[in-house]
Amino acid sequence: MRMYDLIAKKKKGAELTTEEIRYMIAGFSDGSIPDYQMSAMTMAICFRGMSKRETVDLTLAMRDSGDVIDLSRIAGTKVDKHSTGGVGDKTSLALTPIVAAVGAPVAKMSGRGLGHTGGTIDKLECFPGFTTELSEETFVKNVNEIGIAIAGQTASLAPADKKLYALRDVTATVDQMSLIASSIMSKKLASGSDAIVLDVKTGNGAFMKEFSDSVALAEEMVSIGTLAGKKTVAVITDMDQPLGYAVGNSLEVLEAIDTLEGHGPKDFTEVVFALGAQMLILAGKAQDEADARAQMERVIADGSAKKKLAEFVAAQGGDASYVFDKTLLPVAAQTCEVTSDGTGYVHRILAEDIGIACMTLGGGRETKESGIDLSVGIILKKKNGDFVKEGETLAVICGNDAAKMEAARQKIKNAYEIHEERRTPEPVVRKYIFSE
Ligand code: URA
Repeated sequence: MRMYDLIAKKKKGAELTTEEIRYMIAGFSDGSIPDYQMSAMTMAICFRGMSKRETVDLTLAMRDSGDVIDLSRIAGTKVDKHSTGGVGDKTSLALTPIVAAVGAPVAKMSGRGLGHTGGTIDKLECFPGFTTELSEETFVKNVNEIGIAIAGQTASLAPADKKLYALRDVTATVDQMSLIASSIMSKKLASGSDAIVLDVKTGNGAFMKEFSDSVALAEEMVSIGTLAGKKTVAVITDMDQPLGYAVGNSLEVLEAIDTLEGHGPKDFTEVVFALGAQMLILAGKAQDEADARAQMERVIADGSAKKKLAEFVAAQGGDASYVFDKTLLPVAAQTCEVTSDGTGYVHRILAEDIGIACMTLGGGRETKESGIDLSVGIILKKKNGDFVKEGETLAVICGNDAAKMEAARQKIKNAYEIHEERRTPEPVVRKYIFSE
């Protein structure tokens, strides 16, 4: 078998066999298939697509490229949660302590930022000393003792996905449905949880921009999870504007803590509750949505969810005092305002451009080797449906470099679509997909 022939086959739109997919992933993992051939293949997949069978084969080949974690030493139904990636998506930071405080064990794998979207690990590194490099022993111990652990994708967990994900990130081949579905599900299936809740983003800031594509992606992932014997639910959530008001690592941590204190943004809180309810139901900790919501409200009101975040940060080496004193979080040196050129209602905020503006400020990675500035970001002052007058502030930029801030300012201004007529914004939770 030759990788050259497989690329040529996919370029013509033919289906790869199970053996061919296994050969390709094995060769890419051991380095015998170089990055340039794999990049050509992923680009061919972007143009030609993959069948459902090919997608399942790719998922299982990537899952089997490394260890499949055994979490049987953790009592109870372990639920994992994963987002397909969004702008301002700090959901895991608030959701996991809430769910753990209610009593469902959270054993989660997280990633770093990808393209214009942020990543949970980068955000958690705002707590000095925090690490997601946990041994399996510590991971299991932390979930058993405090109910929550978040690990990075270790070198041994779906290593083929890790390598492919980094390659896709810098070759404009992220936004392909089968590649996203297999990437996410290979990690989820390798990470040993019993049940999976997927947050599938839809709209301009998502990798899947069309609602119908997001539904198809969600259905594909739910069917892969179910086929592999895991209870899987997907929630499709809106990304036609950033989630919440804060975009950028430390600003998002601050907003997540606000949410744990009960005063988070409405749209963000709703996404947290919708996903949290599904996690609690799958874990057998809530009878139904109403019961789950009542329990989540209770752990926010009595402070135990915020305390759980602090316990979790401390257990993973981070400075938990930051949870109780948000002024300690990294702050950018300068701020500047983005003002509106017109009067009217905000129809849409091109979330992808807001994500790119944040990257421009230094808050995201341009290449897989780039470092990031945790302090920079954007605070939105107007969201979809809001009225804005000419000259009024649309957003505030927090940065450390005047030239970068000026470039971001123009991008953010152009990201706001303002019209005379008001359009009712889409609900943030668009649809649930359950396994059949
Ligand atoms: N998140 C992932 O884990 N993989 C993708 O391909 C996209 C988002």
